[in-house]
Amino acid sequence: MDKIVVLDFGSQYSHLICRRIRELNVYCELVPYNLSIHKIMELNPKGIIFSGGPASVYATDSPKPDSKIFDIGVPILGICYGHQVIIDHFKGKIKRVDKREYGNAILEISDKTNLFKNIELDKIKCWMSHSDAAEVLPNGFKILGKTSSSFSAAIGNNRKKVFGLQFHPEVAHTEKGDMVLNNFAKVISGANSEWNMSNFIETVVIEIQEKIKDEKVLCAVSGGIDSTTCAVLIHKAIKNNLTCIFVDNGLLRENEKETVREIFEEKLQIPLRIIDARERFLRILEKISDPEEKRKKIGEEFAKVFTEFAEKEGPFDWLAQGTLYPDVIESGVSGGPATVIKTHHNVGGLPEWLHLKILEPLRFLYKDEVRTVAKILGVPKDILSRHPFPGPGLAVRIIGQISPQKIHIVRRASKIVEEALIEDKLYDKVWQAFAIVGDDKAVGILGDERLEGHIVSVRVVESVDAMTADWVRLPNETLEKISSRITNEVENVSWVAYTISSKPPATIEPQ
Ligand code: XMP
Repeated sequence: MDKIVVLDFGSQYSHLICRRIRELNVYCELVPYNLSIHKIMELNPKGIIFSGGPASVYATDSPKPDSKIFDIGVPILGICYGHQVIIDHFKGKIKRVDKREYGNAILEISDKTNLFKNIELDKIKCWMSHSDAAEVLPNGFKILGKTSSSFSAAIGNNRKKVFGLQFHPEVAHTEKGDMVLNNFAKVISGANSEWNMSNFIETVVIEIQEKIKDEKVLCAVSGGIDSTTCAVLIHKAIKNNLTCIFVDNGLLRENEKETVREIFEEKLQIPLRIIDARERFLRILEKISDPEEKRKKIGEEFAKVFTEFAEKEGPFDWLAQGTLYPDVIESGVSGGPATVIKTHHNVGGLPEWLHLKILEPLRFLYKDEVRTVAKILGVPKDILSRHPFPGPGLAVRIIGQISPQKIHIVRRASKIVEEALIEDKLYDKVWQAFAIVGDDKAVGILGDERLEGHIVSVRVVESVDAMTADWVRLPNETLEKISSRITNEVENVSWVAYTISSKPPATIEPQ
């Protein structure tokens, strides 16, 4: 399949470039900036994009690609820092400008033969975020567009098929950015549009069949979109050689077990083994209030439950996991967001001595692509539109020690929060919405009686990728509904508070 390769120089937008290219139905991979030319040629790219990055090309040890990359005849597009790498390589000159161009600028297009082909506008809004700019253009390069503070915001050498953009075509703030990337990927590099999720499903199903043959696969599902899609895809390929298990750790959302059972067995027609491990989880969590300790204990117990099942019901040869692309690729310069997300991985702690081979059919996909695959495979809307739920479940929403009473409060109250948002048509507009309970109590009056009840905090956040988040300015009517329903319907709660901390400095979950 035709592909574009993005060299990652550490920009926060590197993954975004990759996703944008894939949205054009062209397969795209992100690789470290210093991948050897030998490895790059093995990938056989139709075009190569240099991402942006925080460095300055003149700093000592600034990241540079293998210089032979300019000699292999594959078209290159440099973005921001990548643009400067090109200027530097071809012996142009960069200078640090006093006026840092950050944010929106207007690009005046002066050449519409290649990168800006078919763009009818002569001026487009574009997004800048760098303070270095070209002072002298290298020989053979032509100006394709300029801004008020950068005379060489877009440059190109048509003969060599090397182009540079000082701005970011991948971000939504750049007008016609998708057309610029389309021109690079399809017109200049000649990549065909062969990447789409229906083809992906067909190919992966065959690959799974060839890989697994008659062996047995074990897959733990959580009811989340990734593990569900992973299970459905594998089931499509190998039917009953797949065993799906769902562990009820007693820390699930209200009706979660029933919902997941119904979705798997009735809607998807995939047998599901449900393991009731509520008591043992409650036992190991007794008296623990440290958040990391909770996570650790839950992970270890999950691994034990899982191992016991595998030993009793096996042998199994493969362990299936719903790992996604951002979790598996090595980032070029910094650790990148993926490293942070990894510490949250639910099934990360499964014992290696089970000696299961790992099957990760979603490892090349981004989340939005998984959503499309799920839709095509008929995964019901309940799962597609469900808010993310942490692996350690309600445990991370209980501050202090975990008790059956606190589990009950947080489970019921969270359900009320969700119901209120669904009723007010807000559920699909927010990232997560739930309740939190700790040991703080406040006095209330119930009927004629004074009652010292728990304080429940409600958290509703909006976010794009959970790396940052903001609290949602809910309408007062919705807040009022949530508050009165929780105090009326959930025993031992006297007060309801709303959390107004964004991430950072707070995190989304309280523990
Ligand atoms: P934080 O609390 O770090 O959460 O802002 C970011 C996102 O990750 C989810 N989360 C977890 N997911 N295991 C998970 O699978 C965990 O231990 C875990 N902790 C947080 C959280 O719900 C949010 O979407």
